[in-house]
Amino acid sequence: MAASADIVETVKQGYAFTGPALELGCLLVDDKPVVDAQVRVPLGMLNRHGLVAGATGTGKTKTLQVMAEQLSTNGVPVFMADIKGDLSGVSQPGVANDKLTARTQSIGQNWEGQGFPVEYLSLGGQGNGVPVRATITSFGPTLLAKVLDLNETQTSSLALVFHFADSAGLALLDLKDLRAVIQYLISDEGQQDLTGLGGLSKATAGVILRELIAFSDAGAEVFFGEPEFNTKDLLRNAPDGRGIITCLELPSVQDKPALFSTFLLWMLADLFHDLPEAGDLDKPKLVFFFDEAHLLFKDASKAFLDQITQTVRLIRSKAVGVFFVTQNPKDVNDDVLAQLGNRVQHALRAYTPDDAKALKAAASTFPNSSYDLEELLTQLGIGEAIITVLSDRGAPTPVAWTRLRAPQSLMAPATDEAITAIVNASPLKPEYGQEIDRESAYERLQAKLATPPSAAGRAAASGGGAASRGPAPAPRQAPAADQGPGIVGEVVHSSAFKSFLRSAGTVLGREITRSIFGTAKR
Ligand SMILES: Nc1ncnc2c1ncn2[C@@H]1O[C@H](COP(=O)(O)OP(=O)(O)O)[C@@H](O)[C@H]1O
Ligand SMILES: [Mg+2]
Repeated sequence: MAASADIVETVKQGYAFTGPALELGCLLVDDKPVVDAQVRVPLGMLNRHGLVAGATGTGKTKTLQVMAEQLSTNGVPVFMADIKGDLSGVSQPGVANDKLTARTQSIGQNWEGQGFPVEYLSLGGQGNGVPVRATITSFGPTLLAKVLDLNETQTSSLALVFHFADSAGLALLDLKDLRAVIQYLISDEGQQDLTGLGGLSKATAGVILRELIAFSDAGAEVFFGEPEFNTKDLLRNAPDGRGIITCLELPSVQDKPALFSTFLLWMLADLFHDLPEAGDLDKPKLVFFFDEAHLLFKDASKAFLDQITQTVRLIRSKAVGVFFVTQNPKDVNDDVLAQLGNRVQHALRAYTPDDAKALKAAASTFPNSSYDLEELLTQLGIGEAIITVLSDRGAPTPVAWTRLRAPQSLMAPATDEAITAIVNASPLKPEYGQEIDRESAYERLQAKLATPPSAAGRAAASGGGAASRGPAPAPRQAPAADQGPGIVGEVVHSSAFKSFLRSAGTVLGREITRSIFGTAKR
């Protein structure tokens, strides 16, 4: 199973680039470290994305921690999803022990305990961290449909509901806004608007509404609303110049995998909107670690996969590197996998026939080498990996059996007290700590639907359908911007809506523009 004798020379030359690089670890030959053959990845190649894969307990999370630490040291901000809470220790210095010292010395790592500048976030305030929320409107129909596990017909119906709300100027800030709009559309008052939309059946709208209610009942209300997290806050440096490592603490929402994986995608999509084109820089503006990535790809529709692929492809030129972290490379859709230039493959198991198949597939994704990867991948020790990255010239480096460096920060969760102290001192806390509930679609429609049917019917007919698109079912009266007595006019007139529009960066009366993900532009 050993590599040929010249592997040492090949690796030395293949990883000898000058310029700043992350030091991943040291080459192993026949299980022995070769200290002068270090395995590294150039900072400038991190926007060519990557994959960290391996069975549970093989060292993926520590690899991520090692990379995050060095990125921070090099002034690059990092975002990581901390699914199990075991990354939270990155703010605290690690503690030496004999085993650790033996490991680090054997691979030529000059180890000393060190904590890093960290910002802790939590989804909707569930858990220890500054709360992160998104408005429904910016989350968009595609991601929401994924969370709700809607089928294709329901997904396109939900898109029509958003289309209606966007063009009618009904601000969808939280879940109750969206429920209110659907309730309106299936009510007698909304009949004309529903017809105007074409393609949205009352029955399907009713199904979506029920899904939404179940979703809210499961406690999802807190994840949506204002203040919305501004992903620019991920791109920060500490006063000493080190990149801030943002840990999204997810242990409390582990039981909602569809929710948090979709939220991570929302963050990426939002970053994508906001960042200017940057081309290939010396170092990325942000490296984004997408842990438990299989959740994103599981049961994903073709359209959804296409959108992930496109976002990953395009975000590269915005100087954001995305690393997917998952058990097997085959968890990641092929088109996305093809774009991941940097690979750290930890050990894989081969207990079952399915495992064996996955192992074969994983081995086949590596460039040619003298290793018998199918065998070696099952024999790697903990904290070892098969690595190939992109050299400073963008060519794949030689495949190298590597023992990874050890994190210098704590390899265990930080204490709740330590996290709380950091959260309380965070400049983000005053900004996002308190939820706000502005007047939006729910309040407007509640008022409308509460009025006597005859009055409501007249109001809806006079303005409610004005902004809807598609085949015109009936002659329109006033256009939306006319501010007639209808719902659209009222909402457009409301101060909440005006401030919503300012924050949405849209022009009055114009439909909100939605990007590849159906997420809205701020
Ligand atoms: N690079 C490393 N240096 C030192 N110890 C490591 C390293 N990688 C893994 N380990 C050890 O293995 C354990 C499991 O690693 P972890 O990264 O949590 O695995 P995974 O995320 O793949 O489930 C860690 O708690 C640590 O004790
Ligand atoms: Mg892990």
